[in-house]
Amino acid sequence: MPEFIVRARAASTDPAHFLASVGTGAHVEYLAQIIVSALLISKGHREDTTLSLVLEDSLDFSRCLTLQGAQLGNLGGTTEAALLKVIADSLQFAKGLGKEVSVTTPIGVRATAISFEHLVKAKVLERQVFLLDPKGDDIRTVDIPVDAVFLLTDHIPMPKKNFKAMVRQGVKKISLGPVMLHASQCISIIQNELDRRYMS
Ligand SMILES: C[S@@+](CC[C@H](N)C(=O)[O-])C[C@H]1O[C@@H](n2cnc3c(N)ncnc32)[C@H](O)[C@@H]1O
Repeated sequence: MPEFIVRARAASTDPAHFLASVGTGAHVEYLAQIIVSALLISKGHREDTTLSLVLEDSLDFSRCLTLQGAQLGNLGGTTEAALLKVIADSLQFAKGLGKEVSVTTPIGVRATAISFEHLVKAKVLERQVFLLDPKGDDIRTVDIPVDAVFLLTDHIPMPKKNFKAMVRQGVKKISLGPVMLHASQCISIIQNELDRRYMS
């Protein structure tokens, strides 16, 4: 049961701003591609996968939106517009949330007011966490537990100080090869790697 945590540093937690920023420098449209790569497969979805999107452009707290394959309700379609609406509706539902409080939306998205750093700190206590980095160890040479957690960013790189803190906490860096890919492309490659290791 892999989990992907994507740090969307430029994405607004305000639903109206979020939708208005489609096609701008915030690149929130990439989040729709990430949902597709992480959770959707031909004629179905991946029940075992969890995807957490941490939107950080906020006036109060970051919002972590968690979509669990096993509890996924009707997304309203698989178009970019439909998937971005799922995010915007979840942000609307999570408006005014207190620090580290969670709510679950009618279609099963869990929204929590939590920072990326706190989320990672909690994960490393329970599971092996990997940070996607082209300078890390080649994924083909690394043992990946079936319940591994993978950390990615959007187009804005992870701050260096977070990088060092995560490595101190036991986070391991893994590479998918020499070419810098989109986060959604990274997720497809990892899912394929896990399919080959655990489903054959
Ligand atoms: C679009 S990239 C981020 C690019 C960002 N502007 C940068 O320079 O780091 C999105 C995510 O994919 C990861 N990524 C992209 N290509 C990768 C590769 N070949 N191996 C490992 N991680 C990769 C990055 O580390 C990042 O977390």
